Amino acid sequence: MITKCIFPAAGYGTRFLPATKAMAKEMLPILNKPLIQYGVEEAMEAGCDVMAVITGRGKRAIIDHFDISYELEHQIQGTPKEELLVDIRKLINECTFTYTRQNEMKGLGDAIYKGKVLVGDQNPFAVVLADDLCVNPDGDGVLKQMVELYNKYKCCIVATMEVPKEDVNKYGIIEGKEIEEGVYMVSNMVEKPDIESAPSNLAAIGRYILTPDIFRVIEQTKPGKNGELQITDALCHQAKKGMVIAYKFQGKRFDCGSVDGFVEATNYFYQKSKV
Ligand code: UTP
Repeated sequence: MITKCIFPAAGYGTRFLPATKAMAKEMLPILNKPLIQYGVEEAMEAGCDVMAVITGRGKRAIIDHFDISYELEHQIQGTPKEELLVDIRKLINECTFTYTRQNEMKGLGDAIYKGKVLVGDQNPFAVVLADDLCVNPDGDGVLKQMVELYNKYKCCIVATMEVPKEDVNKYGIIEGKEIEEGVYMVSNMVEKPDIESAPSNLAAIGRYILTPDIFRVIEQTKPGKNGELQITDALCHQAKKGMVIAYKFQGKRFDCGSVDGFVEATNYFYQKSKV
């Protein structure tokens, strides 16, 4: 059973400066809901009830968001505005939120490693990068689809999508063999390769199911691209042993870490709210 989900949220979010100067990028709202809440809802739909947040700056806003605000609750009690807190109350009541800090931004692999104290090293767990906002209007959420695949293959699962060739240098890129429709046995992974040397245009996006042995692999992984400890490099090590599956998910992903993707997501949810 996968019941725990890590949310790395310690990045600087430099593409959103100055908005992210004093606030975590994961607290930026799409309409009236912060990015991280969309991620938590997706994790909950997938069966998780422990949300392990790796924070840096802007920590207080995230912690306060997933906690009861007595003054506010009292203020709007009995008014139509109470309705606006129904979803977040459900999350607070049904999930446990735990936090730890990544003191230095040493990369996504390091941020996930910091989650070990929160999720333990006995069971598989999920990872959601909340700035990758995923939706599937036609069925199960992306993480739920991945949990189902994990139950079949019992190894690490990486969400993937095809990206334009000129964008491969922004992602971890996957090389693998399609073993069933949209499911790849990964043989190699490269973090932000040059356009000319990229093994494919299949990019890893911010949803993972990881088996706990990944922590030992991360311990042995050296800093890679940009001097950061890359989860792509740790996964590549596992992939060489046939222990990583890439999954072309059903649905849509918005790169809300970029202004363009953020605006696209805002428009999408706004249109949806009007029908
Ligand atoms: P990004 O590559 O989007 O980096 O990280 P960033 O710092 O958040 O944003 P920019 O590029 O400066 O605008 C991808 C995800 O990994 C987390 C980030 O919080 C984000 O969710 N992350 C990355 C960490 O938690 N720690 C790290 O050391 C690196």
